[in-house]
Amino acid sequence: MPSTLCAALLAKIHEQIERTVHLIGLLPAESLHWTPPDGGWPPAVLFGHLLDCLAGFCAVLASANPERLEHFGQLREMPVNHTCDAAEALGRIAVYQAHIDEGFALLTDTGLARRLPTVFVKEGEPVLTLLLGNLEHLINHKHQLFTCLKLLGAGVGTPDLYRFRGGFTLRKAVLADVPAIHSLIDASVRGLQAGDYTPDQIEQSLRSVYGADSQLIADGTYFAVEAGTAIVGCGGWSRRKTLYGGDRFKGREDSLLDPATAAARIRAFFVHPSWARRGFGSLILEACESAAIAAGFKRFELGATLTGVAFYQARGYTRGERLSVPLPNAEPLAVVRMEKTIRP
Ligand SMILES: CC(C)(COP(=O)(O)OP(=O)(O)OC[C@H]1O[C@@H](n2cnc3c(N)ncnc32)[C@H](O)[C@@H]1OP(=O)(O)O)[C@@H](O)C(=O)NCCC(=O)NCCS
Repeated sequence: MPSTLCAALLAKIHEQIERTVHLIGLLPAESLHWTPPDGGWPPAVLFGHLLDCLAGFCAVLASANPERLEHFGQLREMPVNHTCDAAEALGRIAVYQAHIDEGFALLTDTGLARRLPTVFVKEGEPVLTLLLGNLEHLINHKHQLFTCLKLLGAGVGTPDLYRFRGGFTLRKAVLADVPAIHSLIDASVRGLQAGDYTPDQIEQSLRSVYGADSQLIADGTYFAVEAGTAIVGCGGWSRRKTLYGGDRFKGREDSLLDPATAAARIRAFFVHPSWARRGFGSLILEACESAAIAAGFKRFELGATLTGVAFYQARGYTRGERLSVPLPNAEPLAVVRMEKTIRP
């Protein structure tokens, strides 16, 4: 019988190792010995501990197959929980991964249910439980590294932490997307803003305020999430003064902002109602923040619709003054200025 569970578990371990390697590669070399403000481990110590996490898988696999994996004993000679740099950590992770693959090649789904005695539980625990415990250990410390990188201002976001599934693609929007973006905005505003604005405000704002901003697309700062061939979410950031409004909005100011003093603008986020609350808004926002940080910005600012306020608050933005956007034949549109500063 094929070992379906073993294959699924190994794939998950590979995925976590791959993301860990990815995060290690994002650490600036000069930050190796940086100590987080809460007194947490410097990255060099964390790297050594990540090696301990990986050694744990090898120890379980060796106990599950002691005769065939006797040579795993040599792994015990290698230091773990020591201070090490990225090159050493990456080289050693490759060694552990090869041993993990070798150990899994000998494991079966039935073998996952076998109990192995441990120092903590004399009567033994299933191999599956022990391997999952190691996976949990690795994921926890991978997240610790992610937090370190965030505190260091490396501009990391959810895509650095998870591998997204389901055929979604995040990419920069191009001018050929404009008709699809307009349809998406219409559907998003009509479907998701109905609880916050009147029907007149919605129709008028679609005519005079919202819309694709071709300047953002030309600047390469507007993103689209595609599911199959449909665009289901869009949003962008800007190094220009305009705070909100698409091409047809009159109050535009295209002059450039100075990243040293000004806040980058977060602009024109719309998710299709059928795809709301699945993390696409967050995915696009993280891509925008990372790109703006890479361009030197440390602060972000936007004019949020009442519908968007809870979303931005959930992403660390704070509310500022209430603004009023005039509409031709309806009550003005209430929006809220919101901002966020990246910790140095
Ligand atoms: C604002 C908008 C872009 C959010 O997109 P989204 O893909 O649904 O957002 P996410 O799934 O990434 O949400 C992340 C978190 O934000 C918060 N959030 C998002 N929408 C929320 C809502 N309607 N009510 C309360 N909290 C909300 C939640 O904490 C959510 O996490 P959870 O789903 O795990 O609880 C989307 O609602 C939208 O397109 N609205 C209509 C257009 C609009 O007004 N855009 C704002 C322009 S400034």
